[in-house]
Amino acid sequence: MEISGARVLVVGATGVLGGLAARALAELGGEVALAGRNPVRLTALARDLGGVPARCFEASDLDQCSALGPWAERMLLRLDGVLVTVGATGFGAVEDVSNDVAGHLLTVNALCPMAVLRGAAPVVADKGFLLAATGGARAPRSRTEPPVPEPGTADYTASKAALSSWLRVLAEELAPRAVAVHDIGFPHPDEPLAPPADALEAVRSLVERIATA
Ligand SMILES: NC(=O)c1ccc[n+]([C@@H]2O[C@H](COP(=O)([O-])OP(=O)(O)OC[C@H]3O[C@@H](n4cnc5c(N)ncnc54)[C@H](OP(=O)(O)O)[C@@H]3O)[C@@H](O)[C@H]2O)c1
Repeated sequence: MEISGARVLVVGATGVLGGLAARALAELGGEVALAGRNPVRLTALARDLGGVPARCFEASDLDQCSALGPWAERMLLRLDGVLVTVGATGFGAVEDVSNDVAGHLLTVNALCPMAVLRGAAPVVADKGFLLAATGGARAPRSRTEPPVPEPGTADYTASKAALSSWLRVLAEELAPRAVAVHDIGFPHPDEPLAPPADALEAVRSLVERIATA
């Protein structure tokens, strides 16, 4: 997809990767609408990008999540793509992770992105794209091996794996409309993207993936 002129909703724009992605898309001539939880960071980013539309949401309010795509379509007058980079981390041996924490991880990492894309699917343009950040288990040593299970990451990994499986089915459902569904698996959290160069590189490859789809 040609990024210049593309109208894209970024959900999780107040985070590291979402913020960088929103800036990168805007620099390449995309028109963005932003959604995030932190109102101060959201307003500042929207202002930096020239007063683009911005809306706050909370991941646990799934109806609010599903309303973001239709909102962005109204604000931008068309919706070519959606990027979801919302996520939470939480680690510990299975017996030490409370049900509350496990439920929170599933909600933020799986149910929220699903709800966002569920709401966006009917309004995204044909030949558009839907993208979500997954990642989790350490990368396999080769393409034919499964991801390496890492003690202390069961609930986090399960939440990301649930989203990945869901995206695979969504891709099949949207194939007749040529809507590309991207599952972007970022590196294991033990290998943080914190150094700006790594985060920038991750966002560069993410934008490249959109541009070449
Ligand atoms: N960075 C890494 O090392 C790494 C590695 C593997 C996978 N990933 C995945 O990549 C994605 C983005 O990572 P990141 O480094 O950009 O993370 P980040 O800086 O922590 O950003 C996370 C985003 O999720 C939002 N969020 C968290 N809980 C929320 C809630 N309850 N309601 C609404 N929004 C909520 C945050 O909103 P506020 O900031 O407004 O609160 C923020 O916009 C995540 O899915 C993460 O799991 C990252």
